[in-house]
Amino acid sequence: MCGIVGITSNKPVTSSIINSLRKLEYRGYDSAGIATLYNGLIDEVKCEGRVDNLEKNLVNKNLQGNVGIGHVRWATHGVPNQVNAHPHSSERVSIVHNGIIENSTLLKKHLIRKGHNFKSQTDTEVIVHLITEYLKKNDLQNSILKMLKRIHGSFALGIIFKDQPDLIVGARRGSPLAVGYGPKENYLGSDSYALKSMTNKISYLNDGEFCILRKDHVEFFDENGNKVNKKILELSSSEENYDKGDYKHFMEKEIEEQPITIKNCVNEYVDKANGDINIYNFPWKTDEVSSIVLVGCGTAFHSCLMAKYWFEQLTSLDVTTDIASEFRYRKNRFKKDTLYIFVSQSGETADTYAALDLCKKNGMKTCSVVNVVESSIARDSEFVLPIHCGPEIGVASTKAFLGQMLVLYLLCLKIGSIRKEIDRKTFLDKIKNLSLLSKLVKNTLTTETQIQAICNSFTDAKGSMFLGRGYSFPIALEGALKLKELAYIHAEGYPAGEMKHGPLALIEDGMPVVVLAPRDKYYKKTISNMQEVIARGAKVLLITNKSKDEVFSENIWEKIEVENISEDLLPFLITIPLQKLAYYTALKKGYDIDKPRNLAKSVTVE
Ligand code: M6R
Repeated sequence: MCGIVGITSNKPVTSSIINSLRKLEYRGYDSAGIATLYNGLIDEVKCEGRVDNLEKNLVNKNLQGNVGIGHVRWATHGVPNQVNAHPHSSERVSIVHNGIIENSTLLKKHLIRKGHNFKSQTDTEVIVHLITEYLKKNDLQNSILKMLKRIHGSFALGIIFKDQPDLIVGARRGSPLAVGYGPKENYLGSDSYALKSMTNKISYLNDGEFCILRKDHVEFFDENGNKVNKKILELSSSEENYDKGDYKHFMEKEIEEQPITIKNCVNEYVDKANGDINIYNFPWKTDEVSSIVLVGCGTAFHSCLMAKYWFEQLTSLDVTTDIASEFRYRKNRFKKDTLYIFVSQSGETADTYAALDLCKKNGMKTCSVVNVVESSIARDSEFVLPIHCGPEIGVASTKAFLGQMLVLYLLCLKIGSIRKEIDRKTFLDKIKNLSLLSKLVKNTLTTETQIQAICNSFTDAKGSMFLGRGYSFPIALEGALKLKELAYIHAEGYPAGEMKHGPLALIEDGMPVVVLAPRDKYYKKTISNMQEVIARGAKVLLITNKSKDEVFSENIWEKIEVENISEDLLPFLITIPLQKLAYYTALKKGYDIDKPRNLAKSVTVE
């Protein structure tokens, strides 16, 4: 979380920093700030809230200087206000920080004893005073090295110095940091996305490294201060669209884009001419893999859970799923024949990255399913399967969820066919169905008016439940997560068959309950569970697929019918109304859809 940008140039940097901060707002948006160096003085402007506020504050202040750092914050230590906003400065340095300093309390006590005055409640401020203290007796590089040795936790840092006219220091441990190269200027950014509008030439710092940027020169060092040579990578000068276009919100645009993103992804992976799936350079023989562990967080975890159902149905592999934040602290049984698959839209999620790192340290086979191919998770896993859905800006994940499910489904088909557990005819049928998916998602997007009317009952709800069985259970979890994060309504995703073991007690008159019952092998069972909640007063929204057979149940409040496709692909279609339900409920409640409260798009803290 939090976004960092730094620019050292031969021209004023304030407006470029503001532009980059706008791009970085997806990482945090509760406060923002900028500091520049001009005529030997560090000047800063900070604010609570968004970059828009920062820009307003800048109107009355002519922030000059050819060197500067900027920050957007997602609060960890200290409430989101102007004082706690970054940069944090002393008379000698100014710092922006992403991450958490775990020993900040101890360091703060020590620094206070030495006479340092703290202004904020943040952990970041200890770094400011530590460097200031070290600079009294050491040169810049040694001060940085000493400071880095004293602080524990995860961080990415950008630092400017009062007496160093064109210099920025960057350092990382745990949190990602990139350097960009431009004409007579160089950049620091918490990811390449922030830098893409300025350059496509990028280097990434490895864990423990720091760098010294000048406008015409960049040097990299390891944790002992030894120089490190860095490769400059050329990012594809993509035509990716970071614009909302005519849509009101990125989320709306990203939901509507799904037919295209599915089509693109199918085209990338499906070899129609040979009836095959293009995953040829898989680095392991299939007899080297007998089990799979799927790891992710939030929505990405739900796609892992979905994949478990597919792998179990179509192959004989043992499959388990893990929430990344739980994985890293358990006593895992690492086995050589296990393939670990890490799923992440951003590719920067700290918990998922830590799980990947742990697997690598234990010599495991690692594969990632990501959207951002330049991300840390993609770079550090042995094999990468991109989901090809273009930038996802809305904090609530939508098109990436479908993309993750699609790639995991394709991987399952490929592995199943190589292992000869899926016969050729079934394989070809499934590929054929995939070619229909984009069109059917498009048709399902037209349930608009009906959903808008249904939302009225959700806006006043204190709580709601999303029920499903089998393939529909992960989608129930996802539907509940979307409603929670966007509409701030308590929503519980539950296996429909489990209701009688406790949660049925929650059902009261008029409570909205979404039942996912596509006509698959679980259909009749789910309909029975639905009747149990209706009997206790629930207002049921049933989501099923079109059929000539009537749904055999009375007192269903509302019904949405999605298109028809094979059972294993129905999860893609029943997801669509749930995305729209969350979107329109949040819209009706007047909430900030692309930037819901307390959240951020890229969760780079533990
Ligand atoms: O970038 P990732 O896919 O690793 O992110 C994981 C979760 O933080 C993310 O899916 C989160 O749950 C979304 N806000 C859900 O819409």
